Formats: sequence, C-alpha cells, structure tokens
Amino acid sequence: MVNSTISDLIVSTEIEDKIKRVINEYHKKDILRKNGLMNRSKVLLAGDPGTGKTMTASVIANELYLPLYIIQFDRLITKYMGETSAKLRQVFDHIKEVRGVYLFDEFDAIGSDRSLDNDVGEMRRILNSFLQNLEDDESYSIIIAATNNPNILDKALFRRFDDVIEYKNPDAEQIERLFKMKLHGKASNDIFSEDIYIQALGLNHADIVKACEDAVKYSILEDSIITKDILMNNIQDRKDYYKYKEA
Ligand SMILES: Nc1ncnc2c1ncn2[C@@H]1O[C@H](COP(=O)(O)OP(=O)(O)O)[C@@H](O)[C@H]1O
Ligand SMILES: [Mg+2]
Repeated sequence: MVNSTISDLIVSTEIEDKIKRVINEYHKKDILRKNGLMNRSKVLLAGDPGTGKTMTASVIANELYLPLYIIQFDRLITKYMGETSAKLRQVFDHIKEVRGVYLFDEFDAIGSDRSLDNDVGEMRRILNSFLQNLEDDESYSIIIAATNNPNILDKALFRRFDDVIEYKNPDAEQIERLFKMKLHGKASNDIFSEDIYIQALGLNHADIVKACEDAVKYSILEDSIITKDILMNNIQDRKDYYKYKEA
C-alpha cells in the first residue's frame, strides 16, 4: 500500500472522480486562492471496512508527494477533556506547520461511547472542538476523516467537510478488476470468469485481495499454477469467516 497510486484503487467512477477532484484542486490551489477560493481539502470517507478508505488517504498522499500522517482518533481521546483538547490543538498546529495528508482514522470513536464511560456530553465537546479546529484550518494540508460507521455520526457534521465519499463493497465489475489486477499472468486464464466474480459478491475489497494473495502464496510454495479450484476455495474460506462471525 505504501506506494499505491490511483490506478491501484478499485472503486466506482463516482468515487474515483471525487478523489481526482481533490488531487486536481490541490494542484490548482494557488490560482483558486488568488480568486478567493479554497481547494477542497477536508474530506470525510465513510463506509464498510476493507473498502479502501485508509488506502485512499495513502493514494492521495502519494499522488501529491505529501507525507501521510495517521491519527488514531480513539487514542487521542483521554479521560480529561482539557488534555484531549490540548492534543487536538497540537495536531492542528502540526497540520499548519507541516504540509501533509492527515488521516483521522476511526473517526467514529468520537461519536460512540467506546472511550469515555458513556459521557455523551464530553464526546460532544470533543467533537465540537475537532470541528472548530477543522473550520479554522486554512493550511495547505489535506485533512481526511474516516469512519466505518457513519450512522452514529451526526448528519450535521457532514456539512463541515468539503466532500463526503461513501464506500461500499465491490460490485461484480470491480471484483473482476481486482482479480485481474492481482492475478494477471499468475493464474490459468479460465479463472477470469463470471462465476468466480459472482462467488465473490458480498466480500469487501480487502477480502478479495487477501484471497488472491493467498492463492499466489500457495502457487509459490507448492510450485503450481493458480487454478479455479484454489481460488474458489479461498473465496469460500473468506465467506465462511463471516458466517462464523455472525453465528
Ligand atoms: N478499493 C480498493 N482497491 C484496491 N485494494 C483495496 C481496496 N480497498 C481495500 N483494498 C485492499 O485492502 C487493504 C485494506 O484496505 P483499507 O484501505 O485499510 O480499508 P478501510 O480503511 O476501508 O477499512 C488495502 O491495503 C488494499 O490492499
Ligand atoms: Mg481503515
């Protein structure tokens, strides 16, 4: 993932266009500012796990030759509001001083009761503190927040971002692209067929990438070509895992 570019990211054209617009506006930020406008630089990524939200932050950083900083939101939050605010301020100072892509991951921690003994009022104050910092920010950095669980977030806060991008599990067309990207030239040609793609429906991007990587590993260790059977098995293994989790 370290050097991923936009072409490695398999998403709908709608998502791709939104990501490209962030990148493009960043390139044109000076002319935009001259005209009293800001490039879109505050983005919320929301949706299912394993669909490429963290990867998107990495792609944007790579495409813009900017360093990527990941802030684990749940770890920023401490029992003491004053301490949490101070930490947030430190991060936003850094955002101003060091140009980069800043990913606030696990952003939903702020809307949930995970870290603060159910103190809703306290969470609200932290969220407000974050939003105030976000609003005041006029830096040249890109600020991305990612959440697996958008439902618990207040819809009102969506307005504070320049863009909200919604991630979903891949459809058959994206699944086909994932398999071809990961297995092209490494597997027998008959695996690139509709029944494999249909079989993989319901899995997220990360699962499919893992199923492919497992197949590649197997073929290296067993010194054999990747067959349809091997791949079908790997896909089924991933699916069984969800059944097990749900049970
Ligand atoms: N849309 C995608 N296109 C290509 N690979 C993906 C995609 N989404 C996830 N992956 C693969 O799964 C891994 C984990 O995805 P990640 O971006 O961490 O998911 P999220 O942050 O949405 O939970 C990535 O490093 C990549 O290998
Ligand atoms: Mg993530």
